[in-house]
Amino acid sequence: MEPRKKHPFRLDGKAILVTGASSGIGRQVAISCSQMGAKVFITGRNAERLARTMSELAGDVHAQATADMTSTAEIHKLVDACGKVDGVFHGAGVSGVTPIKQITEKFLQHVFSSNYFAPMLLTQRLLAKGAIQRGGSIVFMSSTAAHLGVHGVGVYSGTKAALLASMRCLAMEQARIRIRANCLSPDLVETPLLVEMPMHVSTEATERQEWLDMQRKRHPLGLGRPEDVAYAAIYLLSDASRGVTGTTLVMDGGVTF
Ligand SMILES: NC(=O)c1ccc[n+]([C@@H]2O[C@H](COP(=O)([O-])OP(=O)(O)OC[C@H]3O[C@@H](n4cnc5c(N)ncnc54)[C@H](OP(=O)(O)O)[C@@H]3O)[C@@H](O)[C@H]2O)c1
Repeated sequence: MEPRKKHPFRLDGKAILVTGASSGIGRQVAISCSQMGAKVFITGRNAERLARTMSELAGDVHAQATADMTSTAEIHKLVDACGKVDGVFHGAGVSGVTPIKQITEKFLQHVFSSNYFAPMLLTQRLLAKGAIQRGGSIVFMSSTAAHLGVHGVGVYSGTKAALLASMRCLAMEQARIRIRANCLSPDLVETPLLVEMPMHVSTEATERQEWLDMQRKRHPLGLGRPEDVAYAAIYLLSDASRGVTGTTLVMDGGVTF
């Protein structure tokens, strides 16, 4: 009898490193990848929430380590700990809402080191150590903020646009060994990060709630859920997307078109 063909959308036999796995999108990506058969290595800063994610993974082959991704030394330790991987999901990131007129150098450094330097330096270390297998896939979290002008998020948007541009170059550099790189660009996704987003609207909870309700109405498909992003990540991490590199999937519930 012929052996059963591996389903291209599944992740059986793949090891996936997921950053930001202690919350929101990264947490759900880790859970969904484990449900699709992957062995997952999860990381985040908060040990308690990371352990909670660990307890929600399907199967018992997974591993975890806390790391602050703004520390180069901790990135190096993480790469040593996770071993060879077939996929990387860069879920760690911060929001950062401040009109450009009010930004400071410290704020710029914080948002860029979390959202741009961290995923770039982690990718660099993994590649330099040969830790990403041939045929591997790297997924970055960009945002519709990289594509649109929205007041209050100029620096955040800059980090997401920088990721997008660097991802395209990385895709060209790594195509020779069939390592792929792509971005996901969701609009608003219901996670803890979203709580900080309306801070440019008001510090009043009721006004922020009104802003969120208005956003829900503005999106033809409603706001995104972490599962929506996880399904797209699974596609990009799986062999089903083996011909896809250097691209960005905009997931905005129809709001920008
Ligand atoms: N939610 C949205 O509407 C939305 C839309 C578009 C794009 N995105 C992007 O999606 C990504 C995930 O966002 P989310 O909504 O899931 O946010 P979240 O729920 O706030 O989760 C952020 C995650 O990033 C981790 N993190 C932040 N700074 C870190 C650092 N220095 N070192 C290590 N880990 C760090 C956090 O770890 P700890 O909690 O353990 O510190 C947490 O696990 C971000 O890049 C965000 O920009 C989000």
